[in-house]
Amino acid sequence: MLETQKVSQQSGRINIVLQNKKSDDTHKIKDRYITKNPFNHIDDKFSSFVGLSKLKQTVNEIYATIIINKKRQEMGLFSTKQVLHMLFKGNPGTGKTTVARQLAKIYYDLDILSKGHFIEAERADLVGEYIGQTAQKTRSIIQKAMGGILFIDEAYSLARGGEKDFGKEAIDTLVKHMEDKQNDFVLILAGYPYEMERFLDQNPGLQSRFPFIIDFKDYNINQLMEIARQMASEREYQLTKEAEWKLKSYLYKQKSESIQNFSNARCVRNIIEHAIRMQAVRLIYLDECTTDDLIYLTEKDLNL
Ligand SMILES: Nc1ncnc2c1ncn2[C@@H]1O[C@H](COP(=O)(O)OP(=O)(O)OP(=O)(O)O)[C@@H](O)[C@H]1O
Ligand SMILES: [Mg+2]
Repeated sequence: MLETQKVSQQSGRINIVLQNKKSDDTHKIKDRYITKNPFNHIDDKFSSFVGLSKLKQTVNEIYATIIINKKRQEMGLFSTKQVLHMLFKGNPGTGKTTVARQLAKIYYDLDILSKGHFIEAERADLVGEYIGQTAQKTRSIIQKAMGGILFIDEAYSLARGGEKDFGKEAIDTLVKHMEDKQNDFVLILAGYPYEMERFLDQNPGLQSRFPFIIDFKDYNINQLMEIARQMASEREYQLTKEAEWKLKSYLYKQKSESIQNFSNARCVRNIIEHAIRMQAVRLIYLDECTTDDLIYLTEKDLNL
């Protein structure tokens, strides 16, 4: 006979231990839960992202809460619907847009969102030019985003014109709809850190409506190099050792000299894509190419 059910969480794993008087039965049941990593499928979806540990942990927490809430519901215990609206703060190329797109797919797989599509909007999509038009435009975007993620990049542009601007109306309309618990959509406001901070300061009460605030930190050199290797290998290319050194020293220089304009992983992507074109131009003159010729990007291909 099962006596108690114990739910515990240790190091990111949920162990549900059914305690039984017969100790070997307990072990069997225990093993079934402990050997399995419940976050496997989320890890898979994020496997192509280097770093971003805080975000990955947050998504695991959201998932665990949903599963445990379902179990609570089954046992007749009170369970609350999670509010999942998020704020993303980060410099250019730190992965805000790409992550938001991926979250839409993950939330759909986890049954958190009914459609899992991704709508990206900017000020012009929400703010109208005459009275009444803004609320209408904003509502229509929210309607389109139902069942998916509504991603508003450079969210501070909504507050650009101050109190009298129609952008204020767009913010109010968004807030009204995000509070409606029945709504099946997730709102993500994104932007650069400093501008986002100012935007939140100017709109007190906004920050508290977003239970998840994620800082997308600049990538360090090792992470940028890992991203470069990964971007190359996804395309079935590899960097030679010399090419890696050249890229590394370039990234050091860029990171220290152009802090404001450095575009993190996007800068790496542009370099890899350019190197692929440069390699093609180099190889087109050869009568025959080996597989290695076709795979390796050399220092000559890196136009840095
Ligand atoms: N952690 C990461 N691992 C691998 N690739 C990444 C990572 N972060 C970003 N990238 C890649 O870098 C490129 C730029 O990312 P993205 O457009 O999402 O950045 P962003 O933060 O939205 O930038 P912006 O603020 O300029 O809009 C994309 O090709 C993306 O796949
Ligand atoms: Mg972006």
